[in-house]
Amino acid sequence: MLPEHNKSPLLFFLVSIFFTCFQPLEASSETDSTPIVIAHRGASGYLPEHTLPAKALAYAMRADYIEQDLVLSKDNHLIVMHDIYLDNVTDVAQKFPGRARTDGHFYTIDFTLAELKRLQVSGPFVPAVSRNFPQYAGRFPLWKSHFELVTFEQELELIQGLNSSLQYATGIYPEIKKPYFHRAEGRDISHAVLTTLKRYGYVSRDQKVFVQSFDAEELQHIHNTLMPELEMDLPLVQLIAETEWEEKCVQKDGEWVSYNYDWMRTPEGLKKIAGYADGIGPWFPMLVDEVPGDAPYAPNQLTSTAHKLGLEVHPYTFRADPQQLPDNMESFDQLLALYLNDIGVDGVFTDHPDKVRKFIDRQSAISETP
Ligand code: G3P
Ligand code: CA
Repeated sequence: MLPEHNKSPLLFFLVSIFFTCFQPLEASSETDSTPIVIAHRGASGYLPEHTLPAKALAYAMRADYIEQDLVLSKDNHLIVMHDIYLDNVTDVAQKFPGRARTDGHFYTIDFTLAELKRLQVSGPFVPAVSRNFPQYAGRFPLWKSHFELVTFEQELELIQGLNSSLQYATGIYPEIKKPYFHRAEGRDISHAVLTTLKRYGYVSRDQKVFVQSFDAEELQHIHNTLMPELEMDLPLVQLIAETEWEEKCVQKDGEWVSYNYDWMRTPEGLKKIAGYADGIGPWFPMLVDEVPGDAPYAPNQLTSTAHKLGLEVHPYTFRADPQQLPDNMESFDQLLALYLNDIGVDGVFTDHPDKVRKFIDRQSAISETP
């Protein structure tokens, strides 16, 4: 038995080792009110979206969470990419001419992982104009260097590896893309995402993860059936779209029609969402009233109503490119001040995580100044 005075250094040493090795990756919003920075498709304002370099850069810029949009390949690999099509971020039209469907699109689900890995990835371009016409002028030049599509596993291993080597606690924010489309193709993408998350240790609210989708019925299925079956309990975020975007389609009289999103922005709709989700992800203009002329933007009731119901609010997508600023906004900081200070959202999806991080850190420094 150790003498009394020798116990404390040993205890201190063991406790230090424990906390160094087993730091819980808790969501920061659960422990303080500082808004979270969600790197939208990585640091996609600086490098081609959803590539590993864009994710590593977002990590280095100290995003709290890094987003993964997920779709399935022909051989059931989860691929990190925004669209169910390959058209506007890869050279698929050059590498695999003749593999488009009759609607003209090259679908990721029609290609094996080995085929997808042969594709060169670039920043988003406008195929209807030219493969050399960027969607966002002034960003990383199209088709330079070498980038490739990655699997969900590859990205999780990158983020977990950096959490290990740098000792930050960066979270993940996967989005299940178009479950209705995958179901029509005979696939269950939600099951694939959830089982992959479980394999990588994301099973409860102790881990730093949000699962998001534009599909309300799918999120209810995940909440009511899939997570209980898999013994998982992860926070869910209901993304809110404009109906005309066709984020989700449903069968009506034998035709695919756009799902109507209008109910989600009503008090009753938010109450329903609070029954299965922990937060909402609205398009950021949905949180202000439309104002004519030079009048300043006025917050509407959506954020305060959501907060009263215990829902977090994570609007998308904050882009610092000058041409992406809303009318009447003179700077990105002015936009951030409106949403983070005046409206009081709990986090933002951004293509420029460094700029949001700096804004939030500056605000914290000001509020801590005596
Ligand atoms: O998931 C939040 C935001 O990414 C939603 O928009 O279309 O970029 O996936 P989208
Ligand atoms: Ca997304």
